[in-house]
Amino acid sequence: MDKKVVLVTGGFGGIGFATGKAFIKSGYDVLLTDIAAAPSPEVLESFHELNRISSDAVGNMVLYPKCDIRSEEMARDLFEFCKKAYGRLDVLVTAHGVYSSQKVSELTEEEIDRIMDTNFKGVVLCAREALYLMKTGVIINVGSSVGIAADSDSPIYSASKAAIHQFTKCLAQKCGRTIRVNVIAPGPVDTPLLRKAFNNDLKTIEEYRRMALRGIASCDEIATMIVFMASDACNFMNGAIVPFDGGESILYAGEPPK
Ligand SMILES: NC(=O)c1ccc[n+]([C@@H]2O[C@H](COP(=O)([O-])OP(=O)(O)OC[C@H]3O[C@@H](n4cnc5c(N)ncnc54)[C@H](O)[C@@H]3O)[C@@H](O)[C@H]2O)c1
Repeated sequence: MDKKVVLVTGGFGGIGFATGKAFIKSGYDVLLTDIAAAPSPEVLESFHELNRISSDAVGNMVLYPKCDIRSEEMARDLFEFCKKAYGRLDVLVTAHGVYSSQKVSELTEEEIDRIMDTNFKGVVLCAREALYLMKTGVIINVGSSVGIAADSDSPIYSASKAAIHQFTKCLAQKCGRTIRVNVIAPGPVDTPLLRKAFNNDLKTIEEYRRMALRGIASCDEIATMIVFMASDACNFMNGAIVPFDGGESILYAGEPPK
């Protein structure tokens, strides 16, 4: 039988690549796409290693670089490539994203567009194209704990994630009979995005790790949960926003703004 196919956006990033690896181990063929021209040297090394051990028991991994998911045309080309290469799509994981810490009073129009176009429009374009290609399957959008609670330190990022959550519910309502659509809403995960959010200040990251209820998650922990959400064990999960955040979203609720 043909292998199932998963497409992961933001696939060269922390959560995206870990997700690709986890699906490979579950026997999927994996198409990883990203705006970047190439993954980092460490990710590339890991990619070559994975494809060296690739066999019928595990899947194969293909990289599709330089795809800006904000562009309707590029998104269309990406799904067209998937159709030509595999003739099917079983799982879509949208793990692309950019972060912003501009306060409301500082927000520029450029920044609003950058965040909303990447985080939100990118998810919408992918979902639309996926619906043309998927007969049955699963869509998992990567939201955030700050899309459930709120974070006045990253208002536009937080809002872009809440928009993804609500769009997911609309899609799940529409397609639930054939395609399950859910959100994983991670809390802090050790990735380049998180490090950038902390201005690469390792001391502050360590302080945060100690202070947080359950520390900072690894990419593999998030990837394991995503594979689980895509599995038949979760057949009854549709339209769910699944916090996977060590309790961060319940903490924000009572926290006064800094
Ligand atoms: N790291 C965290 O703490 C955390 C917490 C909650 C949610 N998330 C979400 O997880 C997802 C993955 O983030 P990450 O932490 O792995 O960050 P990351 O920076 O490691 O990965 C994000 C990837 O998205 C890609 N990307 C950015 N703009 C793009 C575009 N226009 N088109 C295509 N690809 C684009 C980047 O090149 C990068 O490879 C994001 O949606 C992020 O918001 C992250």
